[in-house]
Amino acid sequence: MNLCVVGAQWGDEGKGKIVDLLTAHFAVVARYQGGHNAGHTVYVGGRKFVLHLIPSGILHPGVVCLIGNGVVVDPHALFAELDELTSLGIDVAGRLLVSDKAHLILPYHRELDVLSEARRGERKIGTTSRGIGPAYEDKIGRRGVRVGDLADASDDGALVGAVRENVAARNRLVGNADMRWQDVLADLRRVWPRLQPLVADTSLYLHRAMHAGRAVMFEGAQGTLLDIDHGTYPFVTSSNGTAGGAATGLGIGPARVGRVLGVAKAYTTRVGAGPLPTELHGAVGERLRETGQEYGASTGRPRRCGWFDAVAVRYAVRVNGLDALAITKLDVLDGLEELQVCTAYRCGSDVLSEMPGDIAQLAQCQPVYEALPGWTRPTRGLTTFADLPPEAQRYIARLEETSGVPAQIISTGSERDHTIMRSLSSIIDKG
Ligand code: IMP
Repeated sequence: MNLCVVGAQWGDEGKGKIVDLLTAHFAVVARYQGGHNAGHTVYVGGRKFVLHLIPSGILHPGVVCLIGNGVVVDPHALFAELDELTSLGIDVAGRLLVSDKAHLILPYHRELDVLSEARRGERKIGTTSRGIGPAYEDKIGRRGVRVGDLADASDDGALVGAVRENVAARNRLVGNADMRWQDVLADLRRVWPRLQPLVADTSLYLHRAMHAGRAVMFEGAQGTLLDIDHGTYPFVTSSNGTAGGAATGLGIGPARVGRVLGVAKAYTTRVGAGPLPTELHGAVGERLRETGQEYGASTGRPRRCGWFDAVAVRYAVRVNGLDALAITKLDVLDGLEELQVCTAYRCGSDVLSEMPGDIAQLAQCQPVYEALPGWTRPTRGLTTFADLPPEAQRYIARLEETSGVPAQIISTGSERDHTIMRSLSSIIDKG
């Protein structure tokens, strides 16, 4: 009865809307990786909410939201988001829990992120500058600071030692000693009283909730092609946004993850550097960007736009074990005379039907397109599949055939009710 929702492309697929929409059927929504690099946009009653760290389920009263151990938490970003939700009239009290094992993003992480990008020059990743990568580096390097560590800020405690060493390492790396560990520590001491009431053993919470028969939705951030293991490395984020990450990022058994729903736009976007085989540089790309308002929800950066890449989505079906797709932003294609779907890549004399692992090779790949007729009648706001223009129905059918899984949800606009729900029961098994 649980469900994992993941991005099937390069992020920004519209997971926020889909998670918000499905939350009505769940008691708990849990984030398992990433941090406030994510930007999940949800429109409710004409109001826009952009969530970065807090699960999109928070907009539903009574739903408990978890930030799991696999997430990296900037406490100030968390508080800013909490304040914003409160100012918008969303009551969060008692509904948000943060894992004691989640690692913290500290000021030197943000700084090192920017520095590392500057040092890479032309080879830069195009990160969100939120300190995500350096925080995960410290976690894997076994020198990170976890949320639960803040409980003991005594002078001879482990927290003080870790902050001292990490700030000293930062000062060596940056080449000056203008960051003082005492300042970083003082800030953590200030942060703790507000953070403490949210802190919990979220793995145990989930275990008990599931035992009591409460349904859980796992919310992935970023997308499959940005996954640290399965994405277009090194042009990726530093965590596992694929479905497998839900088990390690929350401390649950893999069998508990349940069904997996992949969210994919009806076309493709990417923000940041790295290969994007179907990228469009001309007027059509511009048209997709403007009509789809393809600007980063976190950073405002323009997104690179291209045609639907079925090779990439097929790959997402494989590495996540997707049961179904939610296709978003179909309405953005309204009025285009002809659409293209990339069904394979041409690489030299080879035609590849599977995603190559080597990104140098991927960067050389040319898309093999199949042309499909567009439609003129607007699809925006439609809620029934049969009401879609026949060409749009055919387009969706082709996306299903080429990616290998059914499209059970089709989003035709930004509001909750701008949605075609074809088979809710195949996504949400109520047992
Ligand atoms: P980082 O996660 O800030 O380290 O950025 C690494 C890469 O992931 C960059 O290309 C970012 O643009 C991309 N990225 C990170 N978070 C998101 C997201 O939520 N949506 C889309 N791209 C993202």
